[in-house]
Amino acid sequence: MCGIVGYIGTQTATDILLGGLEKLEYRGYDSAGIATILDGKIHRLRASGKLYNLREKLAHSVNPSQIGIAHTRWATHGKPEEHNAHPHVDTAARVAVVQNGIIENYLDLKEELITQGCQFESETDTEVIPHLIASYLPCAPKGDDFLKAVQTTITRLKGAFALAIICAEYSDEIIVVRNQAPLIIGLGQGEFFCASDVTAIAPHTCAVLSLENGEMARLTPLGVEVYDFELNRLRKQPRTLEWSAVNLEKQGFRHFMLKEIHEQPAVIRACLERYLSPPDSASPIQLPIDSQLYQGVQQIQIIACGTSWHAGLVGKYLLEQLAGIPTAVQYASEYRYAPSPLTPHTLTIGVTQSGETADTLAALEMEKYRRINLASPYQARTLGITNRPESTLTQMVDQIINTQAGIEIGVAATKSFTAQLMGFYFLALQLAFERQTLSLEQIQSIIAGMRALPHQIEEIIAKQSAPIEQLAHEFSQTKDFIFIGRGINFPIALEGALKLKEISYIHAEGYPAGEMKHGPIALLDEKVPVIAIAMPGIVYDKVISNAQEAKARYARLIGVTPKDNLEAEATFDDLLYVPQVEELLSPILAVIPLQLLAYYIAALQGLDVDQPRNLAKSVTVE
Ligand code: G6P
Repeated sequence: MCGIVGYIGTQTATDILLGGLEKLEYRGYDSAGIATILDGKIHRLRASGKLYNLREKLAHSVNPSQIGIAHTRWATHGKPEEHNAHPHVDTAARVAVVQNGIIENYLDLKEELITQGCQFESETDTEVIPHLIASYLPCAPKGDDFLKAVQTTITRLKGAFALAIICAEYSDEIIVVRNQAPLIIGLGQGEFFCASDVTAIAPHTCAVLSLENGEMARLTPLGVEVYDFELNRLRKQPRTLEWSAVNLEKQGFRHFMLKEIHEQPAVIRACLERYLSPPDSASPIQLPIDSQLYQGVQQIQIIACGTSWHAGLVGKYLLEQLAGIPTAVQYASEYRYAPSPLTPHTLTIGVTQSGETADTLAALEMEKYRRINLASPYQARTLGITNRPESTLTQMVDQIINTQAGIEIGVAATKSFTAQLMGFYFLALQLAFERQTLSLEQIQSIIAGMRALPHQIEEIIAKQSAPIEQLAHEFSQTKDFIFIGRGINFPIALEGALKLKEISYIHAEGYPAGEMKHGPIALLDEKVPVIAIAMPGIVYDKVISNAQEAKARYARLIGVTPKDNLEAEATFDDLLYVPQVEELLSPILAVIPLQLLAYYIAALQGLDVDQPRNLAKSVTVE
């Protein structure tokens, strides 16, 4: 949520900063802005809307500055208009600041600063920061005055924030601060970068320093100095990024979302390769997590938001049905303020593709904190499931399962979801093996089914994309959709509906098929299509009956189901075929046509599939 980037070095800053903003635009795209230092003065350019508006403005100016900061905004305080766009400056424009986060006490600070004569030009919380820093800067600052002014300012701020700051009188310094919001530093040859996410840094260097919460740094052309908030110098080891900038390109696809849908077979193959043991091993699964984390666990709670929460629902089904462990799935934003009563021997799993979702991280932190001084059965055991092992989540939990999906750029999650599902399959099977709730033969049979998944997804993409695109034409005027599923595919109905509303702006509801008659059936008529996930298994007949109930109310029925299924052919008006698969593994296949349908409906209408309105990929505010 909001992306910040900074550059100091030997190249033209605006070029590097614009490139960085482009990579960070998935974090928000309500406005963009840049500030550089030229001839001892701050030069600032901002534009509302997406980055191309700022690009256009910049095209008319020449700015050789080699230092600058920039921001792409997801509006929290103040409308998405230019006067609210970052960077923000103080009254005399000595200091420019970009922020990702929220300053909770900004109203009190603003009142205080106004009485001191500061003039505010925005409704944002961020603007208090440059005013405060300027108020702590002497008239003729020298040495560490800028660093000290920033440090004093931090002591006044409440909230979660990451900052990058420049000062007109310090043309060779950027100060960055990290407090509960992500910030990474990139180390080049005589040039240094900072950004909310490695995506903005990867095109320039593989060497990065991750700041931790409570740390700040000074970037100069000579190097990087890291400090804690008391200005004690810290020594940190750089690390090397594992993935290359190539992952960040569309590689010929029209949208990142389509590319990421197509990447799913490869991601699942990578998971299988990584987490299945070689033949004749003692255990069929080799998750790199310490068995102490789950030994003796009596209950599991899964904490997540959005699509990751849907993955958690499938996870619950697997952990309960395969490993016999009672499992609860919690919305992180709800759990933070109404946690379940403390239970012993409890494993808490945080699921997040970005590894940065503020609510998920805060809920995990709270869970750890409230268990800190308790007797050993009550002590926290935490596991993260993520595709971003370099994220804050990893620092916060005991262990992680890296789902191998790599970076995902499209705001609507696709490959990260199927990869999270794979994470849950492996975890549930490992637990089932250790607790002997399934026999080795049963586990081997499920694994054989998992091995077939990549090829089966390829088949869906190859054979179903064209018919789904064709079908999508018929829904250009549709206002409402209902998705129904049962059992392990109920979360897939939720996920199908979420994909559609996120990118096509069509109202869609996911519902447990058996619950339709307790309300939503009242919405049905010939204008409301119903998509039923009808995968052979224990609830198949039930789903078909529920679909018939919708048909009797004149709804157009679309079925997600395997081929050559007479009952389904007779029931549904349209069919989205998937290969035959065990019901237990069917979510991973059933979601693919729903992702494609949402994609094609949105793409045909010319909508901004990768950056849908009002959304952001990484939600780093509460
Ligand atoms: C945002 C994204 C969704 C994502 C959700 C949770 O809403 O647009 O795609 O599912 O956040 O994000 P997380 O990174 O925690 O999985």
